[in-house]
Amino acid sequence: MKEIMQKLRDASLRAISESQDSENLESLRVRYLGKKGELTQILRQMGKLSPEERPKMGQMANQLREEIEKAVEQRRAELMDAMMDLKLQQETVDVTLPGKPAVAGHKHPMYNVLDQIKEIFVGMGFEIVDGPEVELADYNFTKLNIDEGHPSREWTDTFYFTEDSSILLRTQTSPMQIHAMETRPLPIRMIAPGRVYRKDEVDATHSPMFHQIEGMVIDKGVTMSDLKATLNLVVEKIYGKGTVTRFRPHHFPFTEPSCEMDIQCHKCGGKGCPTCKGEGWIEVLGAGMVHPKVLAGCGIDPDVYSGWAFGMGLERLAMGEYKITDLRLIFENDIRFLEQF
Ligand code: PHE
Repeated sequence: MKEIMQKLRDASLRAISESQDSENLESLRVRYLGKKGELTQILRQMGKLSPEERPKMGQMANQLREEIEKAVEQRRAELMDAMMDLKLQQETVDVTLPGKPAVAGHKHPMYNVLDQIKEIFVGMGFEIVDGPEVELADYNFTKLNIDEGHPSREWTDTFYFTEDSSILLRTQTSPMQIHAMETRPLPIRMIAPGRVYRKDEVDATHSPMFHQIEGMVIDKGVTMSDLKATLNLVVEKIYGKGTVTRFRPHHFPFTEPSCEMDIQCHKCGGKGCPTCKGEGWIEVLGAGMVHPKVLAGCGIDPDVYSGWAFGMGLERLAMGEYKITDLRLIFENDIRFLEQF
């Protein structure tokens, strides 16, 4: 029995010291010291020994158990150290390598223009309001005096969600006029920037999604001259003092009278050039006095209150300001384009 234990001692200690990972080490521990382990098997045979030999062998077996346990612990510690060394080695940082600069992004050029416009209007006491892009036809059309059958309600121009044409992607920010009048106390001074959608093919000047800024004032005694004065001021802030504007008669169902505002081409001074397509003028926005029917429909007495509203395209404004010639550049998110601003 002594020899068997001697053999077990040699074999186990060698195997433990040669073990290369903690999983293998654990299986060795089980193999030698576990309930069904080799040492336990030996102890089971103790009964066959003489009474004198038994305590001696018992002591030896205990010593062997302790020795193997120690060897396992020691090897475990060695393996842990080796693993730590390896990890440290693999994860060393070479502080002499050149750093990777953290590139800070910046605002999209179109949103710079929007911020500028917001600042101008906030400075004049306007509130900035936000509203739904998925809109009821009632708000996008009917309450704006655009009746059933009007060409702008056609399925060919508008993205509808329902067969009955009652829910759609707003085609203009003008429904924000209605939302504001229905929910806000008078007087109202607000602008409402946001996305609008129309079934247009993508080209250098069209996109099925673009941005508008709606603006509206409702108060007692508001006239067309307030509209002109305010918009002239805004244009001067954006395009510089002395920028010439003109207000052309136009038609919108929800304003009366209605107009479009042009600015004199800043490139050619009105003579006509490629920027203004030979016109000398560049169209900037649509506007007018809020139609009495629209006011009344929102519960505002048109005999007491009046107001003006405008709607302008944000992309076109940004294109003018930054001399961008193709609308697609604004949406493509090409870093090479965006980095220029
Ligand atoms: N909503 C109009 C458009 O999209 C613009 C507009 C807004 C006109 C407000 C008058 C008043 O063309």
